[in-house]
Amino acid sequence: MVKPKRRYVCAACGSVSFRWQGQCADCGEWNTLAEEAPATVFSSKHNLSSGGRPVVFEALDDETKPLQRRLSGIAEFDRALGGGIVPGSAILMGGDPGIGKSTLLLQAAAKLALSGQAAVYISGEEAAGQVRLRADRLGLAKAPIRLAAASSVRDILTTLNSMEPPALLVIDSIQTMHSDQIEGAPGTVSQVRASAFELIRYAKENGVALVLVGHVTKDGSIAGPRVLEHMVDVVLSFEGERSHQYRILRSLKNRFGPVDEIGVFAMEGAGLTEVGNPSTLFLSGREQPIAGSAVFPAMEGTRPVLVEIQALIVRLASGATPRRAVVGWDSGRMAMLLAVLEARCGLNFSSAEVYLNIAGGYRLSDPAADVAVAAALVSALADRPLPGDSVWFGEVSLAGEVRQVAHSSLRLRESAKLGFGRAFGPPDGNGGGTRGGGGKSYGALAMLPNLVDRIMGGE
Ligand code: TYD
Ligand code: MG
Repeated sequence: MVKPKRRYVCAACGSVSFRWQGQCADCGEWNTLAEEAPATVFSSKHNLSSGGRPVVFEALDDETKPLQRRLSGIAEFDRALGGGIVPGSAILMGGDPGIGKSTLLLQAAAKLALSGQAAVYISGEEAAGQVRLRADRLGLAKAPIRLAAASSVRDILTTLNSMEPPALLVIDSIQTMHSDQIEGAPGTVSQVRASAFELIRYAKENGVALVLVGHVTKDGSIAGPRVLEHMVDVVLSFEGERSHQYRILRSLKNRFGPVDEIGVFAMEGAGLTEVGNPSTLFLSGREQPIAGSAVFPAMEGTRPVLVEIQALIVRLASGATPRRAVVGWDSGRMAMLLAVLEARCGLNFSSAEVYLNIAGGYRLSDPAADVAVAAALVSALADRPLPGDSVWFGEVSLAGEVRQVAHSSLRLRESAKLGFGRAFGPPDGNGGGTRGGGGKSYGALAMLPNLVDRIMGGE
């Protein structure tokens, strides 16, 4: 038998090398390589083509029991999961330190426990006293959660196997867990993988919903190998700016429901509160319309969220290179829009500094934001406020056409609900007449110059 080679795996990106190095050759992180137990080398004599048990094939239309979901009682949490917690599912929750993962999961566990379902919360990061203090602060000290500070997977599973399986098991965090079957410190790739594997197996066998908290690296991916994301059924990411109040729970992968669903929360003195109507959160206090501000009905999964886009244009006297800065949107996309506005509409931004900001610390990725950004830019350039009750949406092509986008009617309905009676966007298939969605008046913009005329014309 060939002597297995030593393998070193990077804890940040999961790449394998056969020699220890101080710096990972793939991702450039320092001191992340750790030796991994060698893989068994199979010889071709022992291949897998015989000696197994037959596998039973099934038809796709065979009976399956419908998914049962348990409601945690925190509607925004259930929504991000696609409608509740599926028993036996493994959920990975990532997020920056201090964003509120432990707080949210403690609240969810407490809600379940208070509704009579058993919830176990294992903390490998904080002492039980610290968790209890947090529960106190959240007003949850009376919730019958089973709380423990532990990090040995063997101890945890031995204990769990000696009791009735709970409805929910929270492991905070997977990077602190330790399996004594594998060498290496907690947090290394092989430890994380082995610990997660054992915990997930317990969850599947016992119908327990398992939530693993995962640390996030500097670039925003969940630390440890990508394999962790493959092992679980659901990957959630808890996001937000620590300096802002709001938090978004986003589902990045869901074997039991739609992805891109979000739950919105606000971090307050007594923990996370649900924000049922996120649009009110992102619209800054709008008393009087000001130039350079446009409201955009964005879509988050299947959910419309109104956000405010702010543009500021400062004319430069000298020939210095003007600055362009974007917060919350793609700067390449803004450069493209500026170019289209110059080439197709004859506007001149070349000697001006352009700043773009999405209010509330929100990050936009919806392509339909083009029209709203263009409206904010043109309004700032012309120093003309947009109508206070208007929303803007649509995708802009390089030729300057305004393209149809998904979910127009949902966007319009949400806008009308919040008192925005005028909408400007792409013409629909029928030439832009009435809309099913409830925008009281709808301005169809076929081309970007139409938008400029609207704003410059003062309408
Ligand atoms: P935490 O849940 O510990 O974050 P994570 O587990 O993601 O690292 O949240 C910590 C932050 O939340 C901390 O900076 C204080 C803040 N916080 C509140 O503002 N209100 C509260 O009620 C609680 C419990 C925390
Ligand atoms: Mg924590």
